[in-house]
Amino acid sequence: MLTRPSGKVRVAVLVSGGGTNLQALIDAGARGELPNVEFALVVSSAADAYALERAEKAGIPTKVIERRGKKRETFTRLLCETLQDAQIDLVVFAGFMVILSPQFFEVFENRAMNVHPALIPSFCGEGYYGLHVHEAALSYGVKVTGATVHFATAVTDGGPIILQKAIPIEEQDTPETLQRRVMEQCEWVILPQAVRLFSEGRLEVVGRTVRIREEER
Ligand code: GAR
Repeated sequence: MLTRPSGKVRVAVLVSGGGTNLQALIDAGARGELPNVEFALVVSSAADAYALERAEKAGIPTKVIERRGKKRETFTRLLCETLQDAQIDLVVFAGFMVILSPQFFEVFENRAMNVHPALIPSFCGEGYYGLHVHEAALSYGVKVTGATVHFATAVTDGGPIILQKAIPIEEQDTPETLQRRVMEQCEWVILPQAVRLFSEGRLEVVGRTVRIREEER
């Protein structure tokens, strides 16, 4: 599947804020869990995102494309050009709080994945991001929640699901405590796993379903 001379999948991580999911990817790489992955670029939609510092500390090239002050189409075009110039194979949306124009998903069909802090199709779509997702889960009264990694399509949070992980909600949970547990126990676990599966060429999209091929022995 891969034709890069290095044999590695060139990954770009898109961020907007704190970047703890980016950190989980960097840490997984440092532990040797992503041997086929090269983190080639981190793109932030905001110049003051702490995620940029995490990337710089890890020696990953960064680029800021401010979302503010641009039309959605202009932002999407600049982002696409940047990723194509960097010869990116896989785009990871990790706390990326921007909705892109549909053209993006044609260029990166089945090559862009997003982590969402709920069990899709619950508490997802436009308006469900960050802490709002956990507020919604608590006010609905669900007993389990979790995280989903899925291929990104033009439908916000609507693409084929790669991995999900669930945890129970506890009576004393606040949106903040729930967000933290979902991150620690779900997002930071399944996002590196999904990137690894992609880098091993083990993900196959069949309609809405993602089949995970057995590991080669
Ligand atoms: C994460 O919980 C991520 O799943 C969520 O925002 C947080 C960003 O944290 N993303 C969305 O809600 C996108 N719909 P991070 O910047 O520390 O990774």
